[in-house]
Amino acid sequence: MGWTYCVIWFLCLRWLLLESQPVMHGEVHSPQYPLPYLPNLLKQWDLWVPEGHQIQLSLTHLDIKASSGCYQDSLTVLYDQKVVGKFCGQENSSHHPGKVPILSQGNRLTLIFQTSDSSAELQQHIGFSATYEAIDVDECSKSDPGPGSLPLCSQICINTPGSYHCSCHYGYKLHLDQRTCLFSCGGNIFEQHAGHLSSPRHPRPSPPFLSCKYIISVDPRFIITLNFTDNFHIDSVDTQQGPSCQHHWLQVTIPDREPMKLCGGKSPGLIATNSSSVILDYHTDDEGLSHGWSLDYSTNVTITYLHKYVINVWLSCLIEVTSIIYTFFLSLANINISLFCSSAVNDCGEPEPLMNGGVTFLSGFQNQYRSVVQYHCNEPFYSFPGGVNVSLTCKGEGKWTSNTNNVTPTCIPVCGQPTTLISTYQRIIGGSEAPDNTIPWQVLLTIDGIRVGGMVIADRWIMTAAHDLTHNRKPVSNETVRIYMGRTDVKSLMGCPVLVGSIHIHPEYNNPNGLDFNNDIALIKLQDTITFNSSIMPICLPAEGATYITGMMGLVSGFGIMEIYPPRITKKLKYVQLPVVEQDTCRESVKKLKKTRNNLPSLTDNMFCAGVPEGGKDTCLGDSGGPFALRDDGQFWVAGIVSWGVDCGQQGRYRVYTKVTNYLDWINKTMQEN
Ligand SMILES: *[C@@H]1O[C@H](CO)[C@@H](O)[C@H](O)[C@H]1NC(C)=O
Ligand SMILES: *[C@@H]1O[C@H](CO)[C@@H](O)[C@H](O)[C@H]1NC(C)=O
Ligand SMILES: *[C@@H]1O[C@H](CO)[C@@H](O)[C@H](O)[C@H]1NC(C)=O
Ligand SMILES: *[C@@H]1O[C@H](CO)[C@@H](O)[C@H](O)[C@H]1NC(C)=O
Ligand SMILES: *[C@@H]1O[C@H](CO)[C@@H](O)[C@H](O)[C@H]1NC(C)=O
Ligand SMILES: *[C@@H]1O[C@H](CO)[C@@H](O)[C@H](O)[C@H]1NC(C)=O
Ligand SMILES: *[C@@H]1O[C@H](CO)[C@@H](O)[C@H](O)[C@H]1NC(C)=O
Ligand SMILES: *[C@@H]1O[C@H](CO)[C@@H](O)[C@H](O)[C@H]1NC(C)=O
Ligand SMILES: *[C@@H]1O[C@H](CO)[C@@H](O)[C@H](O)[C@H]1NC(C)=O
Repeated sequence: MGWTYCVIWFLCLRWLLLESQPVMHGEVHSPQYPLPYLPNLLKQWDLWVPEGHQIQLSLTHLDIKASSGCYQDSLTVLYDQKVVGKFCGQENSSHHPGKVPILSQGNRLTLIFQTSDSSAELQQHIGFSATYEAIDVDECSKSDPGPGSLPLCSQICINTPGSYHCSCHYGYKLHLDQRTCLFSCGGNIFEQHAGHLSSPRHPRPSPPFLSCKYIISVDPRFIITLNFTDNFHIDSVDTQQGPSCQHHWLQVTIPDREPMKLCGGKSPGLIATNSSSVILDYHTDDEGLSHGWSLDYSTNVTITYLHKYVINVWLSCLIEVTSIIYTFFLSLANINISLFCSSAVNDCGEPEPLMNGGVTFLSGFQNQYRSVVQYHCNEPFYSFPGGVNVSLTCKGEGKWTSNTNNVTPTCIPVCGQPTTLISTYQRIIGGSEAPDNTIPWQVLLTIDGIRVGGMVIADRWIMTAAHDLTHNRKPVSNETVRIYMGRTDVKSLMGCPVLVGSIHIHPEYNNPNGLDFNNDIALIKLQDTITFNSSIMPICLPAEGATYITGMMGLVSGFGIMEIYPPRITKKLKYVQLPVVEQDTCRESVKKLKKTRNNLPSLTDNMFCAGVPEGGKDTCLGDSGGPFALRDDGQFWVAGIVSWGVDCGQQGRYRVYTKVTNYLDWINKTMQEN
């Protein structure tokens, strides 16, 4: 049976995954210590502590036969293939490092213990014992980085265990190089209808290495006019074609127009932008000197909008009655129109943020009376239940009102629609490697180190087989379960496990002797919610009353064994396509087998079979607990969970899957109550 090979397969796996890791401390001693050591030994230890640490090695005991220059028996300490020390003798001899521990320069150190055959005569020296520990390197205190080179951090250096990071004084922020501090400037969005902007420290010289961005963005019915003051000075380089903005410049970007680079000593004065948004980028480097610039901007309403605007203002005046007097001055063709009314434009405040979605302003003053915003979900991974976007309008009483009744909608995950489809479904028996993002619901579970499969069915739920999650009739503890997802190659997949919140075995699963696989289904609730993207997406649950038609091709996937003899474990996610088998055919096949074998599980109506009658080498593929997916209307849904089987790929024998449609109520109830 499939699982009987798990033992072999799992041992191989443990071995494959075994890789040495740096440690924080440890102990080494000569072979047989504290018994006398043997002649003709050559033994090496490679000590390794985490990056950003040094190794402090302390010899707790040394008793090596003394010889001149330790040429006979010795303990040699090497760093980077260079000898740090060669020791022999006893505590007080001249070849002993003394009480001072040895400090490595880097995070590795090699120890070699060598004995000669001249110690063949009975000797009582017992060798050495030593302890070592990782010592944090204080990168910040490494004083002089050498002439001409830059300090580690341009302002503040903070040492942390194993590393360091740079920080900046108030008013500065860390540059992308993570060491230089830049003057923090700009970054503001100016939304008022008039305002004042100036370069940092204006009119004193601008700091070097500035990259300041200022955005003026007003109601689209208004246009912006910039009025630079006379006090304008941006360093320029004189060339034959005139002054050129090489080191310092102020770039003015107006939508749909070529950006303008300004520099020199003459103020540009008025710039009529004919636009409701302008972006200013002020750049300086460490050459040249600029005293900077300052400007006032104002806005006036465009003719086309005036008519509509007046009506809107009047409407809001009529509807809203508050004690504040609000005045609008509209200047057009030298006529001032003043509107007074006993009304305030109400502020609805920021619309609630939407998980896995966002808000877009469609029209109006931001968050104010009559402005309209639209919620949208992060497609194609999330959508609104009805599939339409939700718009909110800021109505009276300062409240957002929705076009549907749902004021804060929720984005629900899209299931069963991978962003990439496997292009050729080969009708082959034998696994193919699954391309990235084609089976995004597949998860790899390890239970006490044993690999099994599972699938994502909701943003906090994994489904798998019950037999994987029980041990001695009890659910395994949640600490022994590791869940990995989002990659198709095992090596990068095993990076960071998702944490288990709770385990839910089907209450009627009862399989004390490994002979009763009825109700082989279990759910795992995760501690945290997963955010879906192209590499992690849920598979759909079956629709109520979904049918399993004989011959329908299902997609089985997993990281499990590829071959039984000899056991080989896949390094990549594999898939195979297998047809649903008639229940009677499968029942016959199990019945036939039972005649020749004792101890076979029974086929129940909570199970179905898939496979090809002729058998095949790799029909074993797919770890238990993994998905058997069918596709309808462009959506994959989980029809089965890999449960059990008799041998692998043998003629007339099929794999048996848990029939998921029979458990919709239980799944629904479990997910709702937990
Ligand atoms: C080493 O020298 C100290 C004094 O210098 C002495 O007390 C100690 O016993 C000596 N140890 C050995 C192993 O000879
Ligand atoms: C521009 O600003 C100056 C003061 O710096 C002011 O005298 C002038 O009237 C302004 N121009 C316009 C058109 O607002
Ligand atoms: C201002 O922009 C509008 C359209 O955005 C255009 O119709 C109009 O001609 C522009 N006016 C000037 C002075 O460029
Ligand atoms: C907007 O105001 C500027 C000066 O403040 C003026 O030059 C421009 O003609 C005005 N434009 C409109 C459309 O009123
Ligand atoms: C328009 O109103 C402004 C601000 O009240 C005032 O300074 C300006 O003189 C007025 N212009 C006319 C033409 O009345
Ligand atoms: C919903 O809004 C987003 C972004 O505003 C847009 O890309 C998408 O087409 C809209 N969907 C529908 C159904 O209107
Ligand atoms: C772990 O398992 C126990 C028992 O099933 C459960 O009560 C607990 O909430 C689980 N979760 C965590 C995070 O320990
Ligand atoms: C999807 O999200 C996971 C976890 O947040 C992340 O590791 C993975 O790189 C993401 N994949 C893509 C394609 O963005
Ligand atoms: C699951 O429960 C929800 C809420 O009670 C219900 O609307 C839905 O139809 C149920 N689904 C199934 C498959 O039972």
